[in-house]
Amino acid sequence: MERNIPLLEMKGISKTFPGVKALEDINLSLYEGEVLALLGENGAGKSTLMKILSGVYQKDDGKVIIQGTEVDIKNVKEAEKLGISIIHQELSVLPNLTVAENLFLGNEKINKLTKKLDRKTMNSMCKDYLKQIGCNVEPDEYVKNISIGEMQMLEIVKAISKNSNLIVMDEPTTALTDTETENLFKVVKMLKSKDIAIIYISHRLDEIFAICDRINVLRDGKYVGEVKVKDVTKDDLITMMVGRKMEEQYPYKEPTNVTPILKLKDICLDGILKSINLEIRAGEILGMSGLMGAGRSEVAKVIFGEYKKTSGSIEINGKQVNINCPKDAINNGIAYLSEDRKKEGLILPLSVKENMTLASLDKFEKKTFRISKAEEKNIVDEYIKKLSIKTPSQDQLIKNLSGGNQQKVIIAKWLIQSPKVLIIDEPTKGIDVGAKKEIYDVLNALKAEGKAVIMISSDMPEVLGISDRVVVMHEGRITGELSRKEATQESIMKLAIGE
Ligand SMILES: Nc1ncnc2c1ncn2[C@@H]1O[C@H](COP(=O)(O)OP(=O)(O)OP(=O)(O)O)[C@@H](O)[C@H]1O
Ligand SMILES: [Mg+2]
Repeated sequence: MERNIPLLEMKGISKTFPGVKALEDINLSLYEGEVLALLGENGAGKSTLMKILSGVYQKDDGKVIIQGTEVDIKNVKEAEKLGISIIHQELSVLPNLTVAENLFLGNEKINKLTKKLDRKTMNSMCKDYLKQIGCNVEPDEYVKNISIGEMQMLEIVKAISKNSNLIVMDEPTTALTDTETENLFKVVKMLKSKDIAIIYISHRLDEIFAICDRINVLRDGKYVGEVKVKDVTKDDLITMMVGRKMEEQYPYKEPTNVTPILKLKDICLDGILKSINLEIRAGEILGMSGLMGAGRSEVAKVIFGEYKKTSGSIEINGKQVNINCPKDAINNGIAYLSEDRKKEGLILPLSVKENMTLASLDKFEKKTFRISKAEEKNIVDEYIKKLSIKTPSQDQLIKNLSGGNQQKVIIAKWLIQSPKVLIIDEPTKGIDVGAKKEIYDVLNALKAEGKAVIMISSDMPEVLGISDRVVVMHEGRITGELSRKEATQESIMKLAIGE
């Protein structure tokens, strides 16, 4: 294909935040109809670079050139005028507006005669857009009532509807089911065929191989290089990203001392969970597999007291316990890391330190009932190191951390409590390959200390890689339990679809 001027060139881009050099002399170029992957570890600078392109942040230095002309993008509106739209890593939909109102926010359709909002047109256009990507939400549904996956689809539709010629997708699939992801890929191919260019950010390398043409790699705010997808292997990419070869991605340790600790007996929940019987064992990592909506998070939330079971009982060390709220669960040594970190996990206006120690302040309380500052600081430092959390200090506001590093802070928050039973829901969502391994190491250490770990995950290699046992759910039931030996991609899939 004849290629003249690139659609976009970014040259020598630099950006510094207080205490952080986020980008240093970054280059990037992109042609019409091309899908470019932007790859790099958590905190490498991917989102920052894209926020500069879309007018959210201002660069300190460098040039942005669109179709041969240098431009100065001062805000989001200007970026949109230049044909650039972005799907942000953090969802930015408004819960108290409807789906259609969100879609047309700032570009509302007005009826020329009545001068009022033309809801009919907005709803029907919205429905068409959603259909294109295989999403069946109703346009007049309030956004607070739709799932995270559907919110993500709405963000995607928002970007598509702006008729941009360049769309940035910053980790668009973290909240999507496999089917939704497939639909998104179809949309990407459709956009590509219309000569629209896409910059695609994801920590899932499979996705990059499936839809991207070229890959641009960043490391620690610096430009590492650019490769064609057809010229590289996954291992090459990992080496470029982390700057060294990675040994075993899934470190597995034989369990040493496995004993039953928690038992679920005939647990039912409002027609969602149907007679769940499950033994949870100390000294073991139990993987929970199943398709999205199979009921895995609901099981977790019943154990954690967030949902009230309709019937059934829970035993800890052979004794029946009453868990009616999360406080009861925490008092019984149970911790739960939710999959929706923004809604349930993080307190954005607080610091890294405060977010990490919030749930375990009593640990640091001395007889004076005041928190031992020194102790708190030491523990926080320990976990910043253990999980390689990238932050200039403990006092940095958590909202300034990159997405993956925020996730690590939440993981640390629960690890600090040193629970007897730790339930983690999609723990490595948005986490880079290097940091994933660090998280697995921590989970293995917990297992060796005799803690019970329940890992809910849609990442099949991860489930197979580090679980001692796998239970699979389908439509609110446990359809099977597999030993580490029996668990394979196929055996899990069969149970997950209810065969
Ligand atoms: N508003 C901000 N204030 C201060 N520091 C920031 C701000 N935004 C980003 N940073 C810092 O800049 C660096 C790059 O962050 P960025 O979000 O671009 O990373 P990323 O590559 O998108 O990572 P991830 O894969 O985790 O999403 C990080 O060290 C981050 O903490
Ligand atoms: Mg990011």
